[in-house]
Amino acid sequence: MPYHYLLIDIEAQTALVTINRPDKLNALNSEVIQELGKCLGELEGNNKIRCIILTGSGEKAFVAGADIAEFAEFSVEEGKTLAAQGQEKLFNLVEKLSTPVIAAINGFALGGGLELAMSCHMRVASANARMGLPEVSLGVIPGYGGTQRLPRLIGKGRAFELIATANMIDAQKAANYGLVNDVVELASLIETCKTIASKIARNSPTAIGFAIEAINAGFDDKTGFNAEVELFGKAFGTNDFKEGTTAFLEKRKPEFTGS
Ligand code: COA
Repeated sequence: MPYHYLLIDIEAQTALVTINRPDKLNALNSEVIQELGKCLGELEGNNKIRCIILTGSGEKAFVAGADIAEFAEFSVEEGKTLAAQGQEKLFNLVEKLSTPVIAAINGFALGGGLELAMSCHMRVASANARMGLPEVSLGVIPGYGGTQRLPRLIGKGRAFELIATANMIDAQKAANYGLVNDVVELASLIETCKTIASKIARNSPTAIGFAIEAINAGFDDKTGFNAEVELFGKAFGTNDFKEGTTAFLEKRKPEFTGS
């Protein structure tokens, strides 16, 4: 079925799903989240599809984060619900999908964008890609599993540095950290992912589904994810959050007071 914000291109046994909101750098609003969850669920149910590649439209961004304009006015409760439902409807769903999902990071993967890429089963980046979790520069924390999946992928110290400085790293550093499996030129990003997908497609889909389940079982503890939802919501009640999001939308630097 046609989607408003997604392009789907099926070739052989691989589905290429492109998030198509380039004027907002493919930022994740609630419709994109809903459509992606639905689309990936449908592709999982299609036994002709053996691998999914997820990317962003344009040459600038994979996904530049959750849609800041959409949640800037949210209350503590609404913030908690945003994180909890997003995690359930999309991020955990991607991680648990029995069909492998490769993130083809073709530019900025920030905040919710990097969290989405980290929910995928593996990541390949183009040389121009830049990654980070800039949430604390907005007065909030990552809320779609970033405080949990980033330390699992790159270790606690590096994850802390990235989260607390809000810095972006380039694709090569991301590869050195183990955040992405490989870096290639933008022009060959999708072909590289398709080659990996075709190798995956030769193998037993049932066994791959079991492998995903077994890998995930080793990271089963939800304590951190639940804490993230609570603390993400709590941040919405602070003056720093109001200042951070307002400053972003007014295109100025925030002045945080720690209140
Ligand atoms: N949410 C909502 N809108 C976003 C967005 C987001 N996360 N990221 C980018 N956009 C919008 C911008 O507001 C702008 O819209 P406009 O043209 O209507 O003003 C458009 O996308 C283009 O972005 P712009 O900031 O003009 O591009 P840039 O090249 O100057 O900067 C970034 C690129 C990625 C550095 C910058 O867009 C950015 O910092 N985005 C937010 C990243 C972030 O903090 N994400 C975490 C959210 S929790």
